[in-house]
Amino acid sequence: MKLITDNKEYADEYLKSTTNPESFWAEQANDFVWRKKWAAVLQWDFNTPEVKWFLGGKLNITENCIDRHLPTRANQTAILWESNDPVETSKKITYQQLYEQVCKVGNMLKANGVKKGDRVCIYMPMIPETAYAILGCARIGAVHSVVFAGFSSGSVADRINDSGCKVLLTSDGAFRGDKSINLKSIVDEALLKSPSVEKCIVVERTKVAINMQTGRDAWWHTEMQNAPTVCEAEEMDAEDLLFILYTSGSTGKPKGMVHTCGGYMVYVGYTFKTVFQYKEGQLYWCTADVGWVTGHSYILYGPLLNGGTSLMFEGVPSWPDMGRFWQVIEKHKVNIFYTAPTAIRSLEKAPISFVEKYNLSSLQVLGTVGEPINEEAWQWYNKNIGKHNCPIVDTWWQTETGGIMISPIAGITKTKPSFATLPLPGVQPAVMGENGKEMEGNNIEGRLTIKFPWPSMARTIYGDHQRFKETYFSTFPGKYFTGDGCKRDEDGYYRITGRVDDIIIVSGHNMGTAEVESAIDEHSAVCESAVVGYPHDIKGQGIYAFVVTYEPVHEETHLRNEIKEVVSKIIGPIAKPDKIQFVSGLPKTRSGKIMRRILRKIAEGDTTNLGDITTLLDPTVVDEIKSGAL
Ligand code: WTA
Repeated sequence: MKLITDNKEYADEYLKSTTNPESFWAEQANDFVWRKKWAAVLQWDFNTPEVKWFLGGKLNITENCIDRHLPTRANQTAILWESNDPVETSKKITYQQLYEQVCKVGNMLKANGVKKGDRVCIYMPMIPETAYAILGCARIGAVHSVVFAGFSSGSVADRINDSGCKVLLTSDGAFRGDKSINLKSIVDEALLKSPSVEKCIVVERTKVAINMQTGRDAWWHTEMQNAPTVCEAEEMDAEDLLFILYTSGSTGKPKGMVHTCGGYMVYVGYTFKTVFQYKEGQLYWCTADVGWVTGHSYILYGPLLNGGTSLMFEGVPSWPDMGRFWQVIEKHKVNIFYTAPTAIRSLEKAPISFVEKYNLSSLQVLGTVGEPINEEAWQWYNKNIGKHNCPIVDTWWQTETGGIMISPIAGITKTKPSFATLPLPGVQPAVMGENGKEMEGNNIEGRLTIKFPWPSMARTIYGDHQRFKETYFSTFPGKYFTGDGCKRDEDGYYRITGRVDDIIIVSGHNMGTAEVESAIDEHSAVCESAVVGYPHDIKGQGIYAFVVTYEPVHEETHLRNEIKEVVSKIIGPIAKPDKIQFVSGLPKTRSGKIMRRILRKIAEGDTTNLGDITTLLDPTVVDEIKSGAL
C-alpha cells in the first residue's frame, strides 16, 4: 500500500475515490491476500438499506494479520504488552508467537463445539489472551462479540442474549490501577440469565478465588495446554460476519453493530496506514480498551494488517501516578500515540512535572478519538507532549463506521485545533440543513451524513434490520445519518460539534439517556426521571439526572448514593450520574413528551434563555427546577 505523500496526492486520491470508487477500493483491496478474488466490488442501496463489498471474495482476516507476515516478520514484535503494574515485566509477543497462540485458541474453541458463524462473547481485560481470543474467533470464522469489562452483569447478560453467544471467554479478575475487579463473579451472575452459553473459559490473571461450575466452566490454561499450534484458517466470504459490537442507542437497548470480513479488513488496513502514516519499524500505541471499536480497529486489526507493532496497555493513566502514560512512552520509545480527549484533559490538570520527568522525543505522531477535543486540550497536547513537533490527527468516526472517516493525514493535512479536517479518500460527507436538504458550499452548519458507502460500514444491527434502517437511513432518506452535528468552515474543514440525538458522550463512552433513565427508574423510590448531558471539564459531558420520587425526599445524599449504586449495578460504573436533582415534576408537553431542550439548558447553567415554554402542561415546574439547579 503506498503512502499519500503530499496534499496534491491527497486531492488526486480523493478525486479518484469519488469519481470511481470501485476501482479505487479494488486497488486498496489488492494489497491483501484473498483466497479467491471478488466478482464485483460493490452493490448498494441506502433505502433498503443493503451494502455489500467485494462480493464473492474469499479470505480470512487472520491470514492477513498474521500468516502473510511470517516469512519476513516471524521474530518481529506484533504486540508489546505493558502491565497495569510498572513492576511487572512487559511482554513481547512476536508474529510467530501470535500465530501459535491464535491457532491454539482456534483449536480450543473448536474442541468446545464452536463452529463458523457461532457467536462468542469476550469479557476480558487488556491482557494478551484477549488479543488471542479475538483473533482466534476470526481464525475459525466464529463471530466475536467483545463486551467492555467495565459493564455490569445485567449488561453482559443482555448482550450475550441478544446475539445468542455459545461460549464466553473471561478472566478471574482484572487489574485497573490500584483496584482489582472480580470479573468472574460478575460473569457468574450474568450466566444465570444467559442460557445460550454452554461453556465459560477463564484466564487466570489476578489469582483471586473464584467459583468454577463443573461442566460449564474451565480454565484457559488447561484448555489451551494440548491445543495444537496449527489451525487452518476458515475460508470466509467477504460478507460473512466478523464481529458484533454493541453501542448505545438514543432509545431502547444497545445496538449490536454487525461488521463483515472483507470490507472491514480493507478499510481498517488502509486507514491505519494512511492516517498515521505508519512506517516500518515504528512502535504505535493506542490507549483505548479492546472493548470499544477503537481497540478492535486500531489496537488489533489495523496495526496487524500492516505488519506493525502495537502496544497494548493494561493499566490506567493515573496510576501509580499521573505520569504513567509518559513513563510508558519513554520506556518503550513510542512513536505514534493515540488517545482520548478526556485522558488529555485529566492529565493536563496534573502538575506539568509529571510530563517533564520523561523523555518523549521518540514521538512522531499524536492522535485523538472519541469526542470533540476542545482547543485548550489540543494546544496543551501539541505543546507539552508533541513539543510542537508532532502532527495531531483528530480522528472522527464511530462504532458504526468501523474505521476513521474524517481526519487529517499525519504530517500532510494542515491541522486546525478542534477540527477533524477533511474526509479520507472514499468518504463522501454531506451536511444537511433544517429543511432536510444537503447544504452546498462552505461556512455552513448542519447535520453530518455520508452519502456513499465505504467498505467498513456496519451492515445491520444484529437481529433488527428494521431498527438499522430507522436509526441511520430514515432521517435523511438515501443517506447514512451519523447522529452528529458539524460545521464546515471556509477551508472545507469539518468540525464535529457533538451528538444531536439523545446520546451523550461521557469520557469518550457513548451513553443512551434512555438507558440511564430506565436504570434510575429501577430504584423503588423513583417515579420517573430525565437524563441530559452537560459540559464537564474532564469528561467532556457529565450525566445530569432530574428525578421525581413518589415521596418527598428527606435524606438527599443518601438517596443519591443509592441511585448511583443502582445505575452502576444495572449498566456499569461509567453510567453513574454526576448530578442528581430531585424535582416534583418534569417539564412535559400536553402530549406527555418531556421537553429535554429545557432540561439541557438548565443543566448547562443557562436559565435565562429557555425559549418558548408555553406549550408545557405545567409551566410552573420550570421555575422550581431552575431554582433547584445543581
Ligand atoms: C464522537 C468512537 C468529535 C461522535 C470511535 C461519534 C467524535 C461518537 C470524534 C462515536 C472526534 C468520535 N471529534 N467527536 N474526533 N470521534 N466522536 O461509537 O459523536 O464510541 O458519533 O466510536 O463519538 O463514538 P463510538
